[in-house]
Amino acid sequence: MNAPVASKAPPSPLTTDDFARRRAALAEIIGKDGVVILPANREQPRNRDVHYPFRQDSDFLYLTGFPEPDAIAVFAPGRGDGAFVLFVRPRDAEREIWDGRRYGTEGACSAFGADAAFTLDAFEAQLPNLLAGRRHVHMQLGDRPELDQRVTQCVQRMRELSRRGPGAPEAFLGLDTSLHELRLIKDEQELAHMRFAAEVSAAAHRKAMQMAAPGLTEWQLQAEIHAVFGRNDMEPGYGSIVGAGANACVLHYIENRATLRDGDLILIDAGGEYHGYTADITRTFPANGRFSAEQAAVYDIVLAAQRAAIDKVRRSETVDAMHAAATRVLTQGMVDLGWLQGAVDGLIERGAQRRFFMHGTGHWLGMDVHDVGRYRVDDHPRPLQPGMVTTVEPGLYVQPDDESVDAQWRGMGIRIEDDVLVTDGAPEILTQAVPKERSAIEALMADRGA
Ligand code: GLY
Ligand code: MN
Ligand code: MN
Repeated sequence: MNAPVASKAPPSPLTTDDFARRRAALAEIIGKDGVVILPANREQPRNRDVHYPFRQDSDFLYLTGFPEPDAIAVFAPGRGDGAFVLFVRPRDAEREIWDGRRYGTEGACSAFGADAAFTLDAFEAQLPNLLAGRRHVHMQLGDRPELDQRVTQCVQRMRELSRRGPGAPEAFLGLDTSLHELRLIKDEQELAHMRFAAEVSAAAHRKAMQMAAPGLTEWQLQAEIHAVFGRNDMEPGYGSIVGAGANACVLHYIENRATLRDGDLILIDAGGEYHGYTADITRTFPANGRFSAEQAAVYDIVLAAQRAAIDKVRRSETVDAMHAAATRVLTQGMVDLGWLQGAVDGLIERGAQRRFFMHGTGHWLGMDVHDVGRYRVDDHPRPLQPGMVTTVEPGLYVQPDDESVDAQWRGMGIRIEDDVLVTDGAPEILTQAVPKERSAIEALMADRGA
């Protein structure tokens, strides 16, 4: 097989003990008067008799490891009759012949460490026992209205009966200050997954750079990238963006239907997901293997901005500081290129740079490409801590019809994105195996067919 595979062995799979440790950490946060209710994802219809490939909900996966759709997890720390309860689809010999094996209630206990398991139809009947004595219900109201209704109806009935039975819960809380705080700080096992996802995704980007040539199509490059993911037991963590020419100016371009032309830059934003953890990488490079003078001028400004922002990925800095560092370099670059006129401070104050840099500089990364976790705490930007992973992804985009700049800049879109771990020392760039210096990109592309 000539497509790249990772040089390292994949990380070991998480065990039931690992998930139990996560639940113990959550119990420390929510205490014995809290209960968490988490729904699994549902299968999503694609067309007649066909579903989109199933992807488990990240919160549910983080806490349980249970891979099936439709389930509900309830976690009530310290509960005498079992803290971790799973509601799952029943075993069904006929459906299992068609759609695959199900763990059922027995498997939920034996393979996933549930203290008790029931089929889904028992949820309403069991819920009062699970909520008894709990003051706070931790769940994401609004995500699943039908579940909200089942739970709130139960709470309402408990209130009505509270003179005779146990008290009803007093409050619903979201997961931001509990489960999502845990997910935000990655432990070594999670980082092993993220490093692996990053390494394979880097190999996929290198492959695309080596393949690219005028006449090839965006979808052919996408196919190469996805093949590298697939060979490494991975799938795309989000819709891959392969944008040639002015398509790179559409921030969430996923059509990927165009043909690469000589003189185009190609922006590829693609990351593979390994067992629930995704990478998120963007590189921009010339279809013909050589940056033009104009492309080089803009590219170097984005790269300098990215380096300045990466330098802020340190303990006690903030995502806002990272954004400010990138914005300053980019705005100075806009002035140097003649796109904006005036003093950099004043331009930034007015937000003038947003014409060409209209998104943030980074976001948390983990199980979700836009991962959970608060960016502000008590109305202040939150200091970075070791174990957080953020993307760093400044860009410059000149819309093809933007007559405020000279014609040679129009339709150019450049973004450079890496995944960066906050450590006790220097930032650790998980995705550094994809070249980003112009000379290194050109050298790799010159190697095509070698
Ligand atoms: N790939 C999505 C993003 O960069 O935010
Ligand atoms: Mn990103
Ligand atoms: Mn991205």
